[in-house]
Amino acid sequence: MYVNTKEILEKASKNFYAIPAFNINNLEFLIAIIEGAIEKNAPVIIETSEGAIKYAGNGDIYRGANLFVKMVREYADSVKIPIALHLDHGKHLEYIAAAVKAGYSSVMIDASHEEFEKNLTITKEVVKWAHASGVSVEAELGQLSGIEDNVYAAENVLVDPEQAKIFVEETGVDFLAPAIGTSHGAFKFKGEAKLDFDRLKKVKELTNIPLVLHGASSVLKQFVDIAEEFGADFGGAKGVPAEEIKKCVELGINKVNTDTDLRIAFVAGVRKYLKENPKEFDPRKYFKEGMNYVKEVVMDRLEFLGASGKA
Ligand code: G3H
Ligand code: 13P
Ligand code: NA
Ligand code: ZN
Repeated sequence: MYVNTKEILEKASKNFYAIPAFNINNLEFLIAIIEGAIEKNAPVIIETSEGAIKYAGNGDIYRGANLFVKMVREYADSVKIPIALHLDHGKHLEYIAAAVKAGYSSVMIDASHEEFEKNLTITKEVVKWAHASGVSVEAELGQLSGIEDNVYAAENVLVDPEQAKIFVEETGVDFLAPAIGTSHGAFKFKGEAKLDFDRLKKVKELTNIPLVLHGASSVLKQFVDIAEEFGADFGGAKGVPAEEIKKCVELGINKVNTDTDLRIAFVAGVRKYLKENPKEFDPRKYFKEGMNYVKEVVMDRLEFLGASGKA
């Protein structure tokens, strides 16, 4: 069932669980994610970055956005679990327009690099015309640049809860990504993971809307180890442990963005398969091994985020 992201996130917010949003660039990850979600009887969000849209359209962003909608809808329309398609980190209006026009369930306007007032103005504008097409909107406040060496980053890098309240009221945004100390990619922390839980708690109390955790990959040791055993070098990689993410969910996170963990799992499977089967060159075989690992990550996240059984 193809659904509006707002609908499934508001339900998650009321019932204190989170739905993972998985980034895809191709058919293989989509299949693995949907298979995992069906097996867990869970709602799931598929998301694509601007880069993914450009890649899928081979440079033509309208083609890329249309291809993703068609692929996702083909699955969504024929299965019972709720599936939403979201534009991740929309920074350029042409990508947001392409996603809305193509039929995405929701878009993110990421003007978090701008000053607060400008972020608010741009977000408000996007909300106005995305809502006119029935598309819900995510925005971001603060910057995703980890908290280094266990010292809290400068106040202006993390979300200001009072600003979040004003921002949500004035823009009418449907869900908000507050920066609380995570960052994108496989190298999030030098020492232990350090998130600002108090700040998150305040943002939820003051906004009371679904909240989004970006940079939420755990960088799973089991897949890093397999990838490295078969030639990868991910030295120093570090993510957010599942326990920390669960604490975020208790405090009001309802959408958990995950890209890196799927990429690492996939490459681990492909590397292992190719090394163990040096004569094989059929992509369906070596992709399948990567897809099996991606599906494992998907099912694990659906379980610990509490989305399992919530379809
Ligand atoms: O937020 C970043 C996502 O992991 C997507 O990354 O721009 O490489 O597709 P990307
Ligand atoms: P990770 O790099 O931690 O998977 O974060 C993904 C993300 O936030 C996509 O928006
Ligand atoms: Na997003
Ligand atoms: Zn992100």
